[in-house]
Amino acid sequence: MAEIRLEHVVKRFGDVEAVKDLSLTIADGSFTVLVGPSGCGKTTTLRLIAGLETITSGHIFIGDQDVTHLEPKDRNVAMVFQNYALYPHLTVWENIAFGLMARKVPKPEIEQRVQRAAAMLGIGNLLKRKPRQLSGGQQQRVAIGRAIVRNPNVFLFDEPLSNLDAKLRVEMRTELLKLHRELGSTAVYVTHDQEEAMTMGDVIVVMEGGVIQQKGTPREIYFHPRNRFVAGFIGSPAMNMLAGRLRQGEFVSDALRIPLEVAGPERDVILGIRPEDVQLPGVLPPERETPPVTATVEVIELLGARAIVTLLLNGQEIRAVIEERHLERLQEGEETQVVFDRERLHLFDAQSGERLE
Ligand SMILES: Nc1ncnc2c1ncn2[C@@H]1O[C@H](COP(=O)(O)OP(=O)(O)OP(=O)(O)O)[C@@H](O)[C@H]1O
Ligand SMILES: [Mg+2]
Repeated sequence: MAEIRLEHVVKRFGDVEAVKDLSLTIADGSFTVLVGPSGCGKTTTLRLIAGLETITSGHIFIGDQDVTHLEPKDRNVAMVFQNYALYPHLTVWENIAFGLMARKVPKPEIEQRVQRAAAMLGIGNLLKRKPRQLSGGQQQRVAIGRAIVRNPNVFLFDEPLSNLDAKLRVEMRTELLKLHRELGSTAVYVTHDQEEAMTMGDVIVVMEGGVIQQKGTPREIYFHPRNRFVAGFIGSPAMNMLAGRLRQGEFVSDALRIPLEVAGPERDVILGIRPEDVQLPGVLPPERETPPVTATVEVIELLGARAIVTLLLNGQEIRAVIEERHLERLQEGEETQVVFDRERLHLFDAQSGERLE
C-alpha cells in the first residue's frame, strides 16, 4: 500500500503542455478518479505515475520513495488499459501468469496467485479458454487479473470499462469497487464519464487543460463546485447557468430577483441551478422556495420516475427534473410557475468563473 504524491509535475510534448504544474496527493488505499473532457491530460498523468512517460519537470513519490526517474518495473504499479490487449494465442491462465513467468516467479507460487485472482474475479472456470472464447466483460476481468497477480502497491486504470455495453459497465463498476475493498491498494481510475466518477470515486479530481480544477469527495464536487467549469461538467442534465448581476445582496436579471446570502460588491455573476432544484411551487419545503417565476413548457421527456422538462424562461432555455407524479400540472406549450431551491443555488463570478460564497 502506498500514498502517491505528485509535486509540480509538468509534461510537455513539443509545444503541447499536457500537464501543467500539477500537484496532487492521493491517499493510501483510496479510490481516486481523475475525470475531465477529452485531451485534458488524464492519461498523461496516469502514464507519468506508471513511468511510461518521462517527466518534463517535477517529482513523483510512491510511499516514501522518489520514483521520478525509476523504470516502470521498479515502481510496483500495475496498469489496466481500455484496450486490454490479451495475447490471443495464450490461454486465460497463461495471460494472467505471463508477467510472473517473465519475472521467473516459482511455478507453485504462480499457480497459487493465478487461482486466487481468478477466484476473486469469478473466472476460475475459464482458465483453459483462449481470449476469443470470452465475452468482453470476461476479457476485461482477465486483464484485471493480470494486474492483480503482481500484488502491486498501486493500481492505475485508464477507462477500463469503456469498451463494455452499458449494463455490463455498471456491473463491472461494482465488481471493481468490491475488489478494491478486498485488496486495499491505492487505485487511480481515469474516466471522461462524470457519472462513473461520481459513483466510483472516494475522491474525484476534475481536470481541464492539464490543470486540476477541483479535488474533493463526490458530495463536495457536486454540491459545492469551486468554479463554473466543474459545476457545468459534473451532473446530467447539466447545471442551468443564468447571467445577471449581484446587487445589494440580490441576484437581479431581466427575469428574476432572488435574495441571496452573498455579500460583496456589485458585479456581473452567473447563477447556477441544477435541474432537480428547479421545481413546481409546493414541492419543496416553503422556506426553501424562491419567489415563483413564469416559464413556458417547451418539451417534456419522460424517463420513468422523473422527466426532463425544458422550459423557456425570459428567452433562455432551462432544464428541470420533475417527478412523474407532478407532470399532470404541466402541458407542452403552456405557461407554468417555477421556483428554485434556495439552499442549492450556486453563484459564480462572471469574469473569473470562481464560486462566490
Ligand atoms: N505522445 C504524444 N505526443 C504529442 N501530444 C500528446 C501525446 N500524448 C498526448 N498528447 C497531447 O496531450 C494532451 C493530453 O492528452 P491525454 O491523452 O493525457 O488526454 P486525456 O485526458 O487522456 O484524453 P481522452 O479522454 O481523450 O483519453 C492532448 O492535447 C494530447 O493531444
Ligand atoms: Mg485518455
